[in-house]
Amino acid sequence: MATPIEQAAALLRAGELVAFPTETVYGLGAAAGNPTAVAKIFAAKGRPADHPLIVHLPGDDHLERWARDIPAAAYELAEAFWPGPLTLILKRQPGVSDAITGGQDTVGLRVPGHPLALELLRAFGGGVAAPSANRFGRISPTTAQHVRDDLGAAVAMVLDGGACSVGIESTIVDLSSGESRILRPGMVSAVDLGRVLGLMPTIGTAAAPDGVPRVSGALESHYAPRTPLVLLPPDAVIFAVRGALANNERLAVLAPMACPISDPRIVWCQAPSEPATFARDLYANLRALDAAGCSRIAVQRPPQSDGWQAVNDRLRRAAASA
Ligand code: TXA
Ligand code: MG
Repeated sequence: MATPIEQAAALLRAGELVAFPTETVYGLGAAAGNPTAVAKIFAAKGRPADHPLIVHLPGDDHLERWARDIPAAAYELAEAFWPGPLTLILKRQPGVSDAITGGQDTVGLRVPGHPLALELLRAFGGGVAAPSANRFGRISPTTAQHVRDDLGAAVAMVLDGGACSVGIESTIVDLSSGESRILRPGMVSAVDLGRVLGLMPTIGTAAAPDGVPRVSGALESHYAPRTPLVLLPPDAVIFAVRGALANNERLAVLAPMACPISDPRIVWCQAPSEPATFARDLYANLRALDAAGCSRIAVQRPPQSDGWQAVNDRLRRAAASA
């Protein structure tokens, strides 16, 4: 009997989609060297074809197969943070297909830290293109059940590696233009990167000349639950609860304190008070609150300090479509 890893690697070789756990979120994987397989990712997700994909590698010894003109900073960051929740944007090798890069001259590369992801990548022996395994624009999955809920029959196999330990998507750093620029904040923070690079990275998305978003997460409405989400300062949470009760509305709340009121119309989720645990649980908490049939989700705004930057980024985007 083939092990689940062997089965998953065989499916990838056959051009099928395999969802697999990473330490950040679950990925929807396809053989990165097979454009027909990669096209299935876009169909399953309902994702626009010009959005580039991250190629997941079994080790940093695979870097040169995908990237060229690799700056010293890339090797330094790979050494410090791989395997782990960091994606590097580098100039692509000519053979890397437009289906992966969205037609750009760059490619996103990452060696993930989850043991099952690494086993799968080693068994497959090459690059696996994988966006988060959710329908386009929805909350990223952090359990195998989330993937099944979102994508169901569209995936040949879901490898179950339990709940993701980081919980939000990797930090994306663009090194393709001679500077280091954070395109998407993640739990590897600007300060962490600056410590290794000896210089703080620039923050923010460079506008693409054609208006195509380089980072699909840069779309404001990304990572959003269906229920409108509002971010509130700490003092305002209790007023929102009173207001909902006065209007006889159901309100979902994500806040660090325990629920101060017992009323079936208030669906309360007590959020972890540290950024790493808040991030780890964030998407599962948002999915649970989204499913509670409330008219709004009120989230108490976390602190603005460096450790909270990635969490604040995702919350701001989740609130943007409300
Ligand atoms: O943590 C993660 O990064 C997860 C796990 C599965 O590895 N993946 C993930 O993939 O979040 P996805 O596709 O949902 O987001 C990847 C982001 C997209 O916003 C995409 O636009 C950006 O990476 N990206 C990929 N290649 C790029 C490139 N060449 N230039 C700029 N952005 C790129
Ligand atoms: Mg995604």
